[in-house]
Parts: sequence; C-alpha cells; structure tokens
Amino acid sequence: MRISRVIKWGLLLALVGIQFIEVERTNPPVTKELLASAEVKKILKDACYDCHSNETKWPWYSKVAPVSFLITNHVNDGRRHLNFSTWGNLFTPKQKEYKKEIWEEIERGNMPISHYTWLHPKAKLTPEQLQLIKSWSKGEKF
Ligand code: HEC
Repeated sequence: MRISRVIKWGLLLALVGIQFIEVERTNPPVTKELLASAEVKKILKDACYDCHSNETKWPWYSKVAPVSFLITNHVNDGRRHLNFSTWGNLFTPKQKEYKKEIWEEIERGNMPISHYTWLHPKAKLTPEQLQLIKSWSKGEKF
C-alpha cells in the first residue's frame, strides 16, 4: 500500500520534472524552397512538410514531454534526410535521385510515417494525389 503510493508520487513527480527539460523546436529560415506546381506543393505541404521542411507546424502536444522528445527527434531526423526548404541547394542529379526515392518511400507505404497520418488525416494521400506525385517524381509534371 505505502510502496504503491510512493511509486505513484514518484512517477507523477518525474512526469512534472521532465517538463523542465528544454527541447528546441526550431524553424530555421527557408532559403531555397522546392519549386513545383501549386497542386504538388499542396500535397507535399500537407503530408511531408512538418518533418521535411523548416516550416514545421508544431502542435500543442509537441510541447509536452515525453511526446516532445519524440516529435523533435523525428523532425530533426526528417530534415537531415530531406528538406524541401533547402531543396534548391541540391544539384539537379541529386534532386532527381531524391524524387525517385520520394516516390519509392510513398509507394512502399513508409512515408508519411503511419502514426503521423492518424493525427493528420490530410496527410493520407488519395489515389489522384498519389498519381500526381508519381508523375512529378518521374519528371513528367512540374
Ligand atoms: C512524422 C514525420 C515525417 C513525415 C510526416 C514524413 N517523413 Fe519522411 N522521414 C522522416 C524521418 C524521421 C526520416 C528518416 C528516418 C527514416 O528513414 O525512417 C524520413 C526519411 C524520408 C526519406 C528518406 C531520405 C533518405 O535520405 O533516406 C524520404 C525520401 C522521405 N522521408 C520522404 C517523405 C515524404 C515524400 C513525405 C510525405 C509524403 C514524408 N517523408 C513525410 C519523417 C517524416
């Protein structure tokens, strides 16, 4: 009885305590944003930009530990791999390679990450949106 109380209070204190651990939720400047048609851009913005650009929309729960650790980690990792805000700095062959990889990741169902789409239904792409991204990735559409 006493012990379980101690554990409960301990956990509660720990949860409160970790709120004071600072995590940086940054949005660095957008320097060379991807140029694409409005339709393509909208899809990527809705489904990918939160993790693959410097225009992350940080939700309220991204401020609450321990979820905040997970989210900031995903965003930093995502940006490191692919960042549409600095896309223009890549050489054209590299951009082509990335476009191919983008379609591969989407087709395999790896991207957008599934737990992201639970909370962001707009990130679930419709068959038409998928078709458009596919043509874009092959360079058939701007
Ligand atoms: C919730 C965050 C999140 C969202 C949303 C997201 N990604 Fe990712 N993405 C990541 C993370 C983290 C990685 C790196 C780790 C990995 O490969 O799983 C990654 C890796 C990738 C890679 C691999 C890049 C490389 O260098 O290997 C591609 C391509 C990619 N994402 C494309 C997309 C596309 C396209 C979308 C939108 C349709 C998208 N992602 C949405 C987090 C995200």
